[in-house]
Amino acid sequence: MLSQQRAMGQYSTPQETVHYMVETVLDHLNAHDRPQLLDPSTGDGIFIQSLIHAGMTPSQLHAYDVDPNTPQPSEGIQFSYQDFLKVDDEEQFDAIIGNPPYKSKRQSTYFNHNKQVLEEEFKDIGVHNMYSLFIYKGIQVLRENGILSMIVQDSFLTNVYYKRFREYLLTHTEIQEIILAPRRLFHHGKADVRTAILTLKKKKPVDHSHHVRLVDRLNYQQYTNPPEERVQYLPQEAFLKLPNFNLTVNVPSEILSLFQTAYTPLEQVVPIKTGLSTGNDGHFLRKANEASETDGWIPFYKNGGAKDAWYYQPKFYIHKDWEQQSKAHKTFTVRNPSYFFKEGITCSSMGVKFSASYLPEGSLFGVNANLFPDNQEDLYYFLGFLNSRLVKYMLRKVLNRTNMVTSGYIKKIPFVTPSPEQKSIISEFSRKLVEGKCQNRDYPTEELHEEIDRVIFDVYGISEKNRHHVRDFCDHVLERL
Ligand SMILES: C[S@@+](CC[C@H](N)C(=O)[O-])C[C@H]1O[C@@H](n2cnc3c(N)ncnc32)[C@H](O)[C@@H]1O
Repeated sequence: MLSQQRAMGQYSTPQETVHYMVETVLDHLNAHDRPQLLDPSTGDGIFIQSLIHAGMTPSQLHAYDVDPNTPQPSEGIQFSYQDFLKVDDEEQFDAIIGNPPYKSKRQSTYFNHNKQVLEEEFKDIGVHNMYSLFIYKGIQVLRENGILSMIVQDSFLTNVYYKRFREYLLTHTEIQEIILAPRRLFHHGKADVRTAILTLKKKKPVDHSHHVRLVDRLNYQQYTNPPEERVQYLPQEAFLKLPNFNLTVNVPSEILSLFQTAYTPLEQVVPIKTGLSTGNDGHFLRKANEASETDGWIPFYKNGGAKDAWYYQPKFYIHKDWEQQSKAHKTFTVRNPSYFFKEGITCSSMGVKFSASYLPEGSLFGVNANLFPDNQEDLYYFLGFLNSRLVKYMLRKVLNRTNMVTSGYIKKIPFVTPSPEQKSIISEFSRKLVEGKCQNRDYPTEELHEEIDRVIFDVYGISEKNRHHVRDFCDHVLERL
């Protein structure tokens, strides 16, 4: 059961983080102009208190919170019980700072209750989460050249839902800084969400030389002096050339450039298909130990784990009469039947570590991505390629930071054609790995896998330094993401 506070999205921001954000905002303001600052979701008032501590006078400070139990954050400030998303845009501020609620459409009835108003007000960016609405609204109530700094969930960086939001930021503001805040920053409050501090200026980004400061995931709140190798400056324009306007943090230009020029996405060189969505796996699927192929059960591949790379015994089966039975089930969806039962590659869809495995002829597959190359050499090449660290890096650090790697993202992996020799080496190694794992589940894969990595790095022309960076990320995904 959520506490009342938690249900309203109340999590207190740690002091060091508040301090850094306050300093960042104040650096952009001129104290002589007596700037007016707003914390639109003040909660326990920690930002207001920190601003006063930093020398702002209460008459310069404004705060809102929708919760009628919120205490007055400080004497003399202008505080009101307000739904920030509904304030009119007439009152303008020089700075907005805070930690807005992070509630998705699914997590809050607020969205249903206010559907029409929100859809109209936020039509530029779409309605997905409270925090993106707060940032957008913040931009509307900022004066030209005003500054905004908010700590929010980091899903806006690559999730496809926020594509229009990212485009809006890139075309209406100068993004100053994106810092991936330490993991478990809100852990004390039991909220384990990955967050980022976004700081932007309301200003048309006409200056082509404007660079965004990007700081990779920090280990602790070392905001002012992060390790050099974790900091990157990129021209803001670079993001406009990335798929879905993704906002990447500390991805070397060498790797970004693979996505930028009119590149060839994987979907152009090999069919990538999803299959059956049963709508009720519990009803339609059986575990391997409960199904026998002689009774008409067909292997069904849906999501391999990290240990299932290259080859694994089917974990699930579906009955050959599925088509007949599915007629009574409205949520059963069939996609791409012309690829059913073909030999191919099956990818994992959920999980920290992405993996790809051999898909034997005669199987069916789920809503995960499956590839159907023309011939066996291509099949084993693509299998090696998909399991390479470079692909894992591109998937999780450029295309989609979440654990859910759906076919839409896999389709966008850049494809660079290997030389015939490179192709045959990878194809051969990858075939060996499949055969090895087919005979012995614990077949050691690391050595050949390393070789495959090396050749893929060669194919993509990755420098020694960046190979190291990619390896480090893949081998510590949990801490680095
Ligand atoms: C994540 S808490 C932030 C608390 C505080 N700023 C901090 O960082 O410790 C979000 C706050 O937003 C408030 N809130 C939720 N929806 C709101 C809305 N539509 N307008 C204004 N405040 C809202 C909640 O009541 C809660 O106090």
